[in-house]
Amino acid sequence: MSLVIDHISMSYGKTAVLHDISAEIGRGEFLSILGHSGCGKTTLLKIIAGFVRPTGGRVLLDGALYSDPSHSVPPEKRDMGMVFQSFALWPHMTIRQHVEFPLQCRAKDLSQAEKDQKVAHALEVTGLSDLAGRYPDELSGGQKQRVSLARAIVSGPALLLMDEPLSALDADLRISMRKEISRIHRLTGTTVIFVTHDQGEALSLSNRIMVLNGGRIEQIGTPEDIYLHPQTKFIASFIGRCNFVKGDWDGDVFHTREGKFVVRGAAVADAFRRDHICPIRPEQLRLSGEGDGLAGVVQEKQYNGREIHYAVASGDELFTVYAPAAENYAIGDEVYLQCR
Ligand SMILES: Nc1ncnc2c1ncn2[C@@H]1O[C@H](COP(=O)(O)OP(=O)(O)OP(=O)(O)O)[C@@H](O)[C@H]1O
Ligand SMILES: [Mg+2]
Repeated sequence: MSLVIDHISMSYGKTAVLHDISAEIGRGEFLSILGHSGCGKTTLLKIIAGFVRPTGGRVLLDGALYSDPSHSVPPEKRDMGMVFQSFALWPHMTIRQHVEFPLQCRAKDLSQAEKDQKVAHALEVTGLSDLAGRYPDELSGGQKQRVSLARAIVSGPALLLMDEPLSALDADLRISMRKEISRIHRLTGTTVIFVTHDQGEALSLSNRIMVLNGGRIEQIGTPEDIYLHPQTKFIASFIGRCNFVKGDWDGDVFHTREGKFVVRGAAVADAFRRDHICPIRPEQLRLSGEGDGLAGVVQEKQYNGREIHYAVASGDELFTVYAPAAENYAIGDEVYLQCR
């Protein structure tokens, strides 16, 4: 299975919402679409699912045309499962009936025994086997969410589309559902496209992340790529914390008025070099009492058990530094900032 999104653009009337989006998603891949509210995530997912026709570009699955501005395979003819943000369940139907429902609609030629077997598998994968006879109002939020997952995967779709499936859950449940989704992805081998505005979710679940900004792809890459090698200031500050230091580049050495430091294994994007900026994560900085580096003074300090978060003033910049608890300095100490 390979899904190709080929120069997709979308306008509602005169308002352009997506601009020239291209990506190829391989079999078994887990791709997250990440971005702020209103950046076009749901619109892109709806185009992939066939609910919305693009105003430009094409969607192809295994080389077959699924969508272009004049042609669209209807959603029910696409080999896809979909999990929506609000997991609408019918109060009068049991969990088993919910999960069987897509097979009644789509897989009419299956025997009852085959349907039972598929339903049992979907219930098992989502950990719902023991709850199959219950009704929705006898379930917790996380269990309801798993019902909508089971419903989406029961027909064994080539592609599973999820639109912010965890956003209605509380913090603890979100973390445990993340693990569930990862496990289901591993077990089924289904290709997943997962929409979220939660950076942690995208980093922890995905093989690749597509970050959208104002309807454009800002960067697409592995979580490590995106985190360690942000291509733009938007990416560096949207995903994780980042210091932006002003100064001058000389190869891998970065100079400011307060001193210089070496950026090890530097793969700093050209855009930053051009703008005389060094993007540096709080945990990439180290404090020492002497030696070279940027001279600074500890302004604030917060201990959280595992590490210490410092604010260090150097010239007119204020650095955020996350240091192991052993690197213990007091407010007012003179320190040197170096790269780890
Ligand atoms: N049917 C529509 N008609 C006109 N404008 C629309 C329509 N659907 C979405 N939009 C606009 O398109 C833009 C992108 O919307 P979309 O729902 O794709 O954003 P999103 O990234 O999913 O946001 P959120 O994180 O809030 O769900 C928004 O400005 C929205 O107002
Ligand atoms: Mg949305």
